[in-house]
Amino acid sequence: MPEITPIILAGGESKRIRSKLTKTLHPVCGRPMIEYPLQAASAVGAKKILVVVPNQKSHPLVSYLQSKKNVQLVAQKQPRGTGDAVQSCASALRGNGGRVLIMCGDTPLLRSETLKDFLKWSGSQNSKVSFITAKLDRPEGWGGRVVRDLSGRILKIVEEKELNEEEKGIKEFNTGVYSVEAKWLLEALKRLKAHPTGEYYLTDIIAEALLDSDGAAGFLAGDPFEFLGVNTRLQLGVVNEAMRNRLVRHWMERGVTFVDPRHVYLETDVTIGPDTVIYPQVHLRGQTHIGSDCVIEAGSILKDMKVGNGVEVKPYSVLESSELKKGAIIGPFARIRPDSVVGEGARVGNFVELKKAKLDAGVKVNHLTYLGDAHIGSGTNVGCGTITCNYDGKKKHPTKIGKKVFIGSDVQFIAPVTVGDGAYIAAGSTVTENVPPKALAIARSRQINKKGWANKK
Ligand code: UD1
Ligand code: MG
Repeated sequence: MPEITPIILAGGESKRIRSKLTKTLHPVCGRPMIEYPLQAASAVGAKKILVVVPNQKSHPLVSYLQSKKNVQLVAQKQPRGTGDAVQSCASALRGNGGRVLIMCGDTPLLRSETLKDFLKWSGSQNSKVSFITAKLDRPEGWGGRVVRDLSGRILKIVEEKELNEEEKGIKEFNTGVYSVEAKWLLEALKRLKAHPTGEYYLTDIIAEALLDSDGAAGFLAGDPFEFLGVNTRLQLGVVNEAMRNRLVRHWMERGVTFVDPRHVYLETDVTIGPDTVIYPQVHLRGQTHIGSDCVIEAGSILKDMKVGNGVEVKPYSVLESSELKKGAIIGPFARIRPDSVVGEGARVGNFVELKKAKLDAGVKVNHLTYLGDAHIGSGTNVGCGTITCNYDGKKKHPTKIGKKVFIGSDVQFIAPVTVGDGAYIAAGSTVTENVPPKALAIARSRQINKKGWANKK
């Protein structure tokens, strides 16, 4: 494929989405929307991508894109329409003997495969400008319409709000993806005239092409849904749902079972191994990577989690930025906070909270426990109601418990404190001193029974 320079348009005001956050940073299945066109443009082999952004150095989109190596930002002085946005790239395109690929920053469902097919086809055409079109019976809200003459030749694109009665019946719409000869584009842009709103429309280059050549070439896409542009919150919702469906389908094709595929929430970077079963109302977010043969039950939320093979997460567990090793069993109602590791075959039961806690293989923490800044050695049993008192009001302190320790119920560890291998801690103890290996620690007052005490009352 010949060298092509992509331009992604993201300099607009995003008025219709009614948000403080610029439209192209709104997340679609966990990633800022702009990531999708960037990725599609990279996938067609572009080394450098021009992105048109608003003209403010501190704009969140500028901050977000600044560090990306393959992106060159082009500030659009004022948001005066898509034609003006491309015009802002003039100096970056001067002397460019190739073609430019223009895309909108607000159509995240466009797949790189479609883009490749289009560019291949476009290369076989002899047109100054070619663009992707799509058809829907009711294209209202999907973009400008493609006006053709009786012989099928493309005459122009008319924006929805400017359609006349006759044009309202047109089913073919402009997807906003164009391949244009760079040199000709710069000439054609100069000739654009402002519309009554004061905007310059990029779409007007389609009519311009007719003046200089045989006109524009249209590539009819097979799936119109790839081109739903996000202009409103409603469209953002529809796009998120379509992306979610695409991800669910992707993982089903790779051997994952979704008990109810309609009610599960996946983000784009998530990966799931075969024969894993995901129950309804599960949220898998961020960099969550799940192994094979796992079961993730209803209502669990996993964010940035690394999950080994054969792990079971019971209902309503909330897990973040931690690792669950092979065969671990979690929940129901467990909370795992960042930087925790649950070792192979370990068990974290109901109403247990971990924070920066490392449980080695086979540890059992079955009920009502808080372990923070703690390391628990393999095979240790942590009784119901155990608490690491890790915070003295100013600093956090570690608790280190050895292997095969038996901790009775309702024990508090006043950190920093260490317990040696094979020790026993009696129920109800408040442990303030280190416990040697194999010792029994009892730290509670002795019970007194006052005989017949109630009779004297
Ligand atoms: C545009 C097209 C329409 C097409 C649709 C596809 C025009 C005039 N209309 O309409 O034919 O069917 O996309 O989704 O081109 N932008 C700038 N600077 C500006 C204005 C916009 O960079 O001054 C950027 C926006 O940030 C956005 C993209 O260009 O990412 C498209 O602009 P938008 O306002 O969404 O145009 P549509 O009304 O969707
Ligand atoms: Mg749009």
